[in-house]
Amino acid sequence: MSVVSVINYKGGVGKTTLTANIGAELAARGRKVLLIDLDPQSSLTFSFYRPAEFESRPTILPWFEGYLATRAAEPLHKYVVSPREVNAVVQPRGGKLDLLAGDLGLIETDLNLAAALGGARLQTGNPRYLPVHRLLADALTDHAFDGYDSILIDCAPNFNMVTRTAMVASDHVIVPARPDYLSTRGIDYLRARMSRLVEEYNAVAPRPINPEIIGVVYTMVQYTGTGPLISQRTSVNETSRIEIPVFRQTVRDNKTAVTDAGERSLPVVLAPPGTASIETLRYEFQQLTSEFLARTRI
Ligand SMILES: Nc1ncnc2c1ncn2[C@@H]1O[C@H](COP(=O)(O)OP(=O)(O)OP(=O)(O)O)[C@@H](O)[C@H]1O
Ligand SMILES: [Mg+2]
Repeated sequence: MSVVSVINYKGGVGKTTLTANIGAELAARGRKVLLIDLDPQSSLTFSFYRPAEFESRPTILPWFEGYLATRAAEPLHKYVVSPREVNAVVQPRGGKLDLLAGDLGLIETDLNLAAALGGARLQTGNPRYLPVHRLLADALTDHAFDGYDSILIDCAPNFNMVTRTAMVASDHVIVPARPDYLSTRGIDYLRARMSRLVEEYNAVAPRPINPEIIGVVYTMVQYTGTGPLISQRTSVNETSRIEIPVFRQTVRDNKTAVTDAGERSLPVVLAPPGTASIETLRYEFQQLTSEFLARTRI
């Protein structure tokens, strides 16, 4: 089983769309997938549920709150839900897609976890440093999760405590980004923040962690008649200069295709046969998934 976080502290770069589509495509290929929505905005959750349908189902919030109240975490698997629509499509193909749902209250969780560590400075000397950082990592070692082939974590656009627990739990990291100059600069910054966390954590942990960036995925790439815009191609090439792996496959900008599919509570990869633009986007996400499998060596 591999745990992969989808991270970028920049908002609106396609993290959630990528997580939903890779997750759904893996399940459509017969794999057992768990998606974890750690973003208070909960858009991953609502990629698979209509709001009315989701009402009164559990989210991951009470699990975090239970830990904060008692300093002992309950089994996490009690909070797993199985979205009906997507599973109706993937189950006949031998796959499964489960979800730990997001919750607006996770905004408070970030603050409360930081407070449990003694405020913004997150001292490694605090006896709670390791248990708090390992909260998700430890919960996922439960045998209840043994049946999953892949766990994908959709993170909020920040590097706060909840995102840090995802980093510590991850074998791999994917960084979606837009192909522009500022985003390329941002990737370098994100990598530095990640390295700092890993160093700080490994200095006090009995067993080191080593979450590996398996690649930047360029999303919302704009095409002209002859291919990607020249300026965007330049940004993609720039990334190779900072020596960070980049997925060969990119995802093009196509708001209509993403939105149309979303209305059915199914990601583009599982949308019924549609227009040429839906088929192109589907193909790109399928290629990305193949590359994802190669890069995570499942
Ligand atoms: N390839 C695409 N082409 C056009 N629009 C897209 C594409 N991928 C995603 N979008 C749209 O862009 C918006 C942001 O996408 P998404 O929610 O996946 O990004 P995000 O990085 O998860 O955002 P946030 O940081 O807010 O969590 C959404 O409205 C989504 O429908
Ligand atoms: Mg998102």
